[in-house]
Amino acid sequence: SPQGEFRNEPFTNFKSHENHRAMQAALDLVAGQLGHEYDLVIGGEHSKTAEKIRSINPARPSQVVGIHQKAGAEHAEKAMQAALAAFETWSRTTVEERTSLLLNAADIIRKRKFEFCAWLTYEVGKNWAEADADVGETIDFLEFYSREALRLAAATTPIQYPGEKNQLLYIPLGVGAVIPPWNFPFAIMAGMTAASIVTGNTVVLKPSSDSPTIAAKFVEVLEEAGMPGGVVNFCPGSGATFGNAIVEHPKTRFIAFTGSKAVGLDIHERAAKNQPGQIWIKRTILEMGGKDSIIVSADADLDAAVDGVVAAAFGFSGQKCSACSRAIVDASVYEIFVERVREKVAQLTVGDAAQNPSMGPVVNKGSYESILNYIETGKKEGRLVAGGKAVENPDGGYLIEPTVFADIAPDAVLAQEEIFGPVLAIIKVENFDEALAVANNTEYGLTGAIYSDDRAKLDIARREFHVGNLYLNRKCTGAMVGAHPFGGFNMSGTDSKAGGPDYLLLFTQAKSVAEKV
Ligand code: NAD
Ligand code: ALA
Repeated sequence: SPQGEFRNEPFTNFKSHENHRAMQAALDLVAGQLGHEYDLVIGGEHSKTAEKIRSINPARPSQVVGIHQKAGAEHAEKAMQAALAAFETWSRTTVEERTSLLLNAADIIRKRKFEFCAWLTYEVGKNWAEADADVGETIDFLEFYSREALRLAAATTPIQYPGEKNQLLYIPLGVGAVIPPWNFPFAIMAGMTAASIVTGNTVVLKPSSDSPTIAAKFVEVLEEAGMPGGVVNFCPGSGATFGNAIVEHPKTRFIAFTGSKAVGLDIHERAAKNQPGQIWIKRTILEMGGKDSIIVSADADLDAAVDGVVAAAFGFSGQKCSACSRAIVDASVYEIFVERVREKVAQLTVGDAAQNPSMGPVVNKGSYESILNYIETGKKEGRLVAGGKAVENPDGGYLIEPTVFADIAPDAVLAQEEIFGPVLAIIKVENFDEALAVANNTEYGLTGAIYSDDRAKLDIARREFHVGNLYLNRKCTGAMVGAHPFGGFNMSGTDSKAGGPDYLLLFTQAKSVAEKV
């Protein structure tokens, strides 16, 4: 119940035979459902378009995971009208009614956890633990935002003015465009949608074209959980056509976006332009890329640092905004660190995510080619320590070796640009001050970590390491809802802190009401 204390969904232990069998059974079940067609859902009505989006399995590009409709600019108006109509009633429902929708959805997902993991495995190539973390985070967002919505509904003004009854009401904004990325295609998509609707808004949800199936499954869950038509309007479509149209629509009140810097900035610009008939300033919640570092100090526990760097660099093939793409290492432990990373990376397996390797494929052909290009750049910019090429395979899967470069300069391309793949740059520094300066030398500021046994250094990092999510003696991926409110500084976005106590405020506007008594 939402009154109960929030607890993060526990991770599934796949070493248990029972869970292993359950995951295998879910993979078999979902294998029988691949290639089905999903509808546009606007105002609760299902429809089809002439053009389609084919979502494929990146481990076997010939395998179609789901066939989706492709909304064009012309569907933006219809989706908007449905969302506006639903807003009239949904914005007037009680917070209890809205939280019960989220909690019902969380229950449904929890009961079918392995099945959702299997969809993530096929659609974006998550191995079992990565898929499980994504599903767990989805449940966490639904549970957490339910409790947050109740807390917000009970908010009061800090002061009661004598002779008055003072209220502060957090009311909904209107219709939002929710535009998620493919890399946490369940959790981020569901999290931005849940935050929007639990606060009384209605949305047009445009999933990433790399992961529309898991989003369609979420919309099915919401329908099963009792969502009225029009509250979430499901419109797969291209960013450039449908995405732009919904961002630019004068009735769009807010845009919740997570994705790349380039698209985030483009949305920021488009949303800023006042359109004929528009009567508000559009709210934008923009979470973007990262170029995240782990500092390894001279006094670090090297075993922990090597484990943390390798996990954060290569988990989900480095395709996390939080991924460690730079290890900044003190000269006194540099060579031994590089060697230990090389040994650890040699143990990683790469393959079809359904078979649960350490690393599955990268998400699509464009990503695959871009990452391989960065690897060629790395060969010119540094010393190749591990990996360095694609993994040939009969299925044509987008497999790339975990790749490590040492001796990368702090201003090199590999040290500055978000690669979004399994590529780690190791940078040598002479001391802690230099390490901190290098850590802060990008335009981003999402996550970062430091391994050190020195309290003074940890305290300096706490103040001076300029990132939205800083971790001391812990890897820089794997933020937990509630404990690590997530979002970055600078070009990493608007620091909106998903899973934190301020997040729902972004989806509301505060109305102060004073009544003379
Ligand atoms: P992307 O920017 O390519 O796409 C994100 C979404 O925007 C997709 O749904 C896409 O269809 C849509 N889109 C594209 N062009 C659009 C346009 N002109 N108008 C409206 N919508 C448009 O990003 P991606 O490849 O899906 O995701 C990877 C990126 O996301 C990385 O940069 C990663 O760091 C970032 N990311 C950030 C966070 C965070 O919390 N800061 C979390 C996850 C991912
Ligand atoms: N929230 C995800 C993480 O922390 C991106 O790894």
